[in-house]
Parts: sequence; structure tokens; C-alpha cells
Amino acid sequence: MKKQLISLAIAAATAVPAFAQQQSVEVLHWWTSGGEASALNVLKGTLEKQGVKWNDMPVAGGGGEAAMTAVRARVTSGNPPTAVQMLGFDVQDWAKQGVLADLNDLAAKGGWDKIVPPALQKFSKYNGKWIAVPVNLHTTNWIWGNKEVLAKAGVTTEPKDFDEFIAAAEKVQKAGFIGIAHGGQPWQDATIFDNVVLSTGGVDYYRKAFIELDTKALNSPTTLKVFQRMSQIRKLVDKDFSGRDWNVASGMVISGKAGFQIMGDWAKGEFANAKKVPGKDFLCYRFPGTQGAAAFNTDQFAMFKLSDPQKTAAQLKLVADIMEPGFQSSFNVIKGAAPARSDVSDAAFDECGKKSIKDAAEASKNNTLVGSIAHGHAVPASLKNAFYDVITRHFNGQIDDKKAVAEIVSAAKN
Ligand code: BGC
Repeated sequence: MKKQLISLAIAAATAVPAFAQQQSVEVLHWWTSGGEASALNVLKGTLEKQGVKWNDMPVAGGGGEAAMTAVRARVTSGNPPTAVQMLGFDVQDWAKQGVLADLNDLAAKGGWDKIVPPALQKFSKYNGKWIAVPVNLHTTNWIWGNKEVLAKAGVTTEPKDFDEFIAAAEKVQKAGFIGIAHGGQPWQDATIFDNVVLSTGGVDYYRKAFIELDTKALNSPTTLKVFQRMSQIRKLVDKDFSGRDWNVASGMVISGKAGFQIMGDWAKGEFANAKKVPGKDFLCYRFPGTQGAAAFNTDQFAMFKLSDPQKTAAQLKLVADIMEPGFQSSFNVIKGAAPARSDVSDAAFDECGKKSIKDAAEASKNNTLVGSIAHGHAVPASLKNAFYDVITRHFNGQIDDKKAVAEIVSAAKN
């Protein structure tokens, strides 16, 4: 009897209380719009089904600038989150600091080297080690149109080049609508810039000028034309554009106030969230003049090194879930992106999603898939921000087209 009591006491002392057993993940991200939040719920739900608690750390602000400031503070204080939404060169910058986890075991088991496009792997791996997992493959070269507004304005065919697009947006404006819905924030101005660069100079110019930073390509009549075209777009935006969030701009197209928005395919997430149907309510076209090419940005979850084994175990579940083909499909159907894995069926996607998957696969095969300048996949953050500064001051009329070229050239040199 006494023996039994002793073993019961030992069992009670060593048993981990139920509340301490629950694994949890803390995830820092900037997915706060309606469409983004419903996509993120897919991931939350997947983990919760496995008994892993989700501690949400949203830091609002498209493009992720505010989120990157928040993560810096957490890592500096020695308390990194489990996972952080990150773009391109930011992942590499953190990897260089030696604070990211080694995911190679899971990567080898899952054969990630074979199923993630090489252009994405360049950012998910550092010194041969997987340190982040790609959630999606977004592309920025899209225009989104309200079908009814365009029909009322007499725009009945897809604009095939830049001039046709401007003519179409002018028609929309003349018909009493806003031509282009836009939010004047540096990353949004820069997202338009991605498109205009690709449309004006093509893939070779895009790479030479904005990835290789070739001075001759940057200091050229093509760059001048890019800024002239940015000025043309500026005229088609309403007067209240300053500071507007991107999803509010999408809302203006959804509600029929505006004809077009130039935005990455996360905008599709807003249309879908508003129960709008592609082809019937809205139209998704490649930005005119960029057909056959794609400027991509991939949201990765960078995984930080954690000291608590329970937290690490939960982190590995998160990693495995993200790389599941089923998750990559159900998440991206809602998010508006193509999956980051090239082996996921497009069956569940709408017509814009199917186009996105097909275009990305073709661009990857034809070497016309280029990293987004605006979203940290062309150059590291310091230079990206210097470009933002020039693009935004030009868009707001503080410097003219010629001065903008000179400033871009000097930003790249420094
Ligand atoms: C991210 C998207 C996000 C968008 C707006 C981009 O930088 O890659 O996932 O939806 O910002 O918040």
C-alpha cells in the first residue's frame, strides 16, 4: 500500500500539467486585410487541429516595413517569434546573422529541392541550408478591373500594351469613374513601378537595371520613359489617394467607384472575400506589355532558432503543414497567389488563379520570372528603400522625370 502511494506521488510530481503540455507557435505577419486574414485562418485551423495553439502577432502595413521593424526589436531582445512572414532579401539578411533554424532534415524528407522553383529557393536557402519555407508565389504584374464599370466606359477588350491601358483608363475617367484606384504609400507606388519597368523595358532591361544595377541601363532613355509613364498613371488616380491602404483601393474597384487597380494578386483575395467572381464581376489581366513575364514576390516564413524544445517541436509542425500540397492549394485559393510548390494541382483555383499558376510555371521555364523590386526580391532592403524614396517623391510631383532618373542612378551607385 505504502509502495503504491509512493509511486502515485512520483507520478503526480513528474506528470506535466495539462496546460503546460499544449504546444504553441507565435507568428508575426502583416496579413490584416479581409482576404489575407481568411487565408491565414487556414493555417491557424490546420495547427489547431493538431493541438498547437496559435499566438497571433499581426503588424499592419502592406509590403511589411512595419513588421520588419517589429521583428528587429524581438530578435534584439533575445526573444524571437516562432516564425516571421518575410520577403526575399530580408530572409537572407536574417540568415546572415545566424539566427535562423536549419530545416534541412524536413527539406530532404519532403524533396523540397525538386518541387520549389529555383528562383524561390535562392531566398529560402542560405549556405545550402533551408532556413525559411515559401507559402506562395505572388506576382505583381496584374491589373484588376471592374467589369461593369469598364463596360459602361466602353472598354470591352483587354488592353494589350501600355498605351492601350492608358487610353482605357482615360475612357473610364471620362465616364465619371476613377480611372485607377491607388493608395499613395511608397510600397504601392513602387508596385506600380515594377509593372511600368517590366512593360517599358522588358525582362532584360528589368534585370540589367534593377537587379544587376548596370549604370548604363539605369541611366538610359528607357528609365526616362519609365518615369514619364509613371507621370501618365499619376493623372488617372483620384485626388484622395495619399496614404490609402491597398485593400481600400481594391474596395473601390469592387464597389464600382473605380475602373482599375494595378496590384499584386493578393488583390484577388479581396475580390474573392467580397464573393466576386472572375470573368463575371471582375477581370484579371497581366499588366499590359508584360505578358509572358512575371515579377514575383514570395511570402516565406523564416523560422528562428528557438531554445525551448516544445517550441521547436511546434515550429517543425508549422513548417511541415506549410509545405503540404493540400495546404498550399487551400491557402492560395483564398490568398490569390500560386502555390510555392510546382506540383500542386490547379483544380481548386478560379480562372485568375489558374492563369497565375500557368504564367508562373511558364515564366520559370522561360527564365522570364524576375524578383519584384517593390517587394524585396530584386535588391536588399536598404537599396529598395532608397528606390522607394525616389519613386514616391516623383509620383507626388516633388521631382521631375529627369531628376528621378538621376536620383535612381545615384541611389544604385551608393
Ligand atoms: C505580401 C503579400 C501581402 C501584401 C499586402 C506583400 O508584400 O507579399 O502577401 O498580401 O504585401 O499586404
